[in-house]
Amino acid sequence: MAPRSSPPPPLRWAKPRQLHRRVPPFLLLFLCAASLLLTLTFLRSSAVVLRIANSLGRQCAQEYDSGADAGAPGSWRRSVAMVSFSDEGESGGGRRSFRGVGEAVAGNKRAYAAAMGYGYVDARGLVDPSRPPSWSKILAVRWLLPRYDWVFWNDADTMVMNPAISLENILHAAIGHRDFDKSPDLVVTEDTNGINAGVFFVRRSEWSEKFLQTWWNQSSFVQFGSTKSGDNDALKQLIYNLPLGELRTHIVISRMQCLFNSYPWVPTLKSIHRLFTSPRSTWNGVYSDGDFMVHLAGLDDKKKWVAKMLEELG
Ligand SMILES: *[C@@H]1O[C@H](CO)[C@@H](O)[C@H](O)[C@H]1NC(C)=O
Repeated sequence: MAPRSSPPPPLRWAKPRQLHRRVPPFLLLFLCAASLLLTLTFLRSSAVVLRIANSLGRQCAQEYDSGADAGAPGSWRRSVAMVSFSDEGESGGGRRSFRGVGEAVAGNKRAYAAAMGYGYVDARGLVDPSRPPSWSKILAVRWLLPRYDWVFWNDADTMVMNPAISLENILHAAIGHRDFDKSPDLVVTEDTNGINAGVFFVRRSEWSEKFLQTWWNQSSFVQFGSTKSGDNDALKQLIYNLPLGELRTHIVISRMQCLFNSYPWVPTLKSIHRLFTSPRSTWNGVYSDGDFMVHLAGLDDKKKWVAKMLEELG
């Protein structure tokens, strides 16, 4: 008997194609659904884990000894003012609009300032119309500095979430001591984009006065018609180009962003990308229960966020 000849080539080649055709559509559908579900579960758990960062051991105020000055108005206690614009509605509508919630946010800060004995100033009247409103924070802080030892600027999309923490505590934690005369002049935080100009402290001093003038003078950074107004970029450029000695003497960049400038984490392409590229920075800055201040930086629908945060405050 002659050995069986192998099947003719056309059949051999036909096989894989037949196999391929046999993958049932429901299986493909199932695989798609499963990966979608996995992704959603991952995003949901990331949001949950980040939200409880503080109970997982993150410490926003590492240097601070909490027992030392629990409310005691010691010699370090200084006159402090919080300053903000209560409403940026003038800058127009759009997704980032803040119209209608300015008063709720201002109320939150005014109540905190009153309870702590700080000044609260709404600097809406100081807005210079020749630049996007955000620039006028510089004018507002300059205007207040002669009257206060420390001025604490906060953007309109920030709220005090833990009113038990005093600004003195925060400054102490950031600076590491309480000697006003030897203190740095500018206390800021850094996020994944670098220095953030939304929330910062300025100390009354000649250096501060000159620095604020120089910042205001960076008019080439002024931008209209974008979510960026340029004041933050101007500040970054100034700080990152300071001689190292001057930087060390006059500026403190808080080691932990969550000390006074926490951002809620929401899954967007950008934030997911950052979670992988800058996990530490995300972790240090994410809003978690117990944090002092929440900053709705870069978020759309601020109105909804403000309502949600106020509800959490009770
Ligand atoms: C800022 O600009 C003004 C007006 O041009 C000028 O008088 C002032 O000296 C400048 N200040 C600084 C610190 O650059």
